Amino acid sequence: MRVAFSASSLAQTAADLLVVAIPVDKVASALSGLGDFASALATVAEAEDFSGKPGSTLGAPTYGRVASNRILLVGIGAGALADVRTAAGIAGKEARARGAKNVALAFPGADIGAAGLRTAIEAFAEGNYKFDKYKSNPSAKKAAAEALSFVGIPSDADAVSRALALVAGQDLARDLVNEPAEVIYPESLAAVAQGLASDRITVTVLDEVQIREKGMGGIDGVGKGSARPPRFVHMTYTPVGEAKGHIALVGKGVTFDSGGLSLKPSEGMMTMRCDMAGAAAVIGAMKAIAGLAPQVRVDVIFGAVENMPSGTSYKLGDILKMYNGKQVEIHNTDAEGRLVLADCLSYATELKPDALVDLATLTGAAVVALGDWYSALYTRSDALAGTLAARATDAGEGIWRMPLPDLYKDKIKAEWGDIKNVGGRAGGSITAALFLSEFTTVEKWAHIDIAGPAFLDASLMHYAAGGTGTMVRTLARWIESIGDDSQS
Ligand code: BES
Ligand code: MN
Ligand code: ZN
Repeated sequence: MRVAFSASSLAQTAADLLVVAIPVDKVASALSGLGDFASALATVAEAEDFSGKPGSTLGAPTYGRVASNRILLVGIGAGALADVRTAAGIAGKEARARGAKNVALAFPGADIGAAGLRTAIEAFAEGNYKFDKYKSNPSAKKAAAEALSFVGIPSDADAVSRALALVAGQDLARDLVNEPAEVIYPESLAAVAQGLASDRITVTVLDEVQIREKGMGGIDGVGKGSARPPRFVHMTYTPVGEAKGHIALVGKGVTFDSGGLSLKPSEGMMTMRCDMAGAAAVIGAMKAIAGLAPQVRVDVIFGAVENMPSGTSYKLGDILKMYNGKQVEIHNTDAEGRLVLADCLSYATELKPDALVDLATLTGAAVVALGDWYSALYTRSDALAGTLAARATDAGEGIWRMPLPDLYKDKIKAEWGDIKNVGGRAGGSITAALFLSEFTTVEKWAHIDIAGPAFLDASLMHYAAGGTGTMVRTLARWIESIGDDSQS
């Protein structure tokens, strides 16, 4: 998608879809640039009770009275950043529904600034995204926007390039999640990471033999039941000049989670291609980082593995020796994500990052607790919790801090090994996080359970059903802010 800036009047703006953001109770003045079409539209708005409340819409054909084919009014209330985001997201979704290739977006009477511009581009692209490559009937496909023009807003190349870097990362994460597990499996997911290698990004991939040799018993164990061998991936972005910080990101890359011998019922298995959304998000974040070029070293680590039942599967009662030497007793082969993450977290800890964040579609319990919008955040660092929450707010993503109490550690005590891989139904997302905490000593460590937001069964707000790329923009904005002295 190209982003352009235009100084034309609203009436002379020629687009497939012209979207005009309307501040509350300013319908007439916001439409004044439409010339004599403005009063007709204002009359319709009045009749339809459209007054510019945040997120409200009014669409109409233009009957050739202005240069654009169709117009959409979207309310932005008092013009808060969150309302700009909502409006732009709606614009993107509407453009997609109509197959509009050239879209114009105007904010008359509202000064959205660089932050608003960036947010608008990100949200528009987010709403405009749809995964329809497997629809063979062309009428079932609607073209994505090719150009987004901002009318009456000063050009800002820096804001545009930062926004588009995040869009590229998020779109990649969404595509990877949406692709069937027969397309994205451990080797092909590792190949996607390898494709991001550049003069600033190195990518190392370990195959199943090297994984075993390294003593990564979690990745090895979970991968044993599948005809598709596991992969371990380590990507490093090195900035030009001196790094102002060092961040490590870890992702759960279970390319399909059948549950293994503790087989899931069919309904629960249907969408389990999404179980690599953590890995997809950290790969997407790395792609965004490549575009942002922050003064920060970034390590991205993920274990890619398929969890399948077979004659070679790992079994209940097995004891796996993990990369850090701890021995884990298997009580349920469907609690596989924490085993894969454990090896990745211990490996990442050896890199001595300033902060370590892992992302995982880890537990159904997190979905039950927080639903589709909020990811569950676990950390012992109040500072890191505050920073991540603030960056999630900037990005317009939902995150909610949960407790990580030592009190519950008893629940994962094992009979024969050091710890077991399940802690019972009560507090299932918390005990999963406590399990992970056994595998890192990094003080600023956070675990984000994205099981709810990573994949939507039905469209939510401006997001289409399927992969959302959640946390790509939060992580990218966080890392960007570390390299920028003007932010915390
Ligand atoms: N991948 C699932 C968690 C999940 C559930 C992700 C729903 C996305 C949507 C995970 O591997 C899993 O199966 N967790 C089990 C753990 C249990 C066996 C302790 C769960 O949550 O039921
Ligand atoms: Mn599972
Ligand atoms: Zn899983």
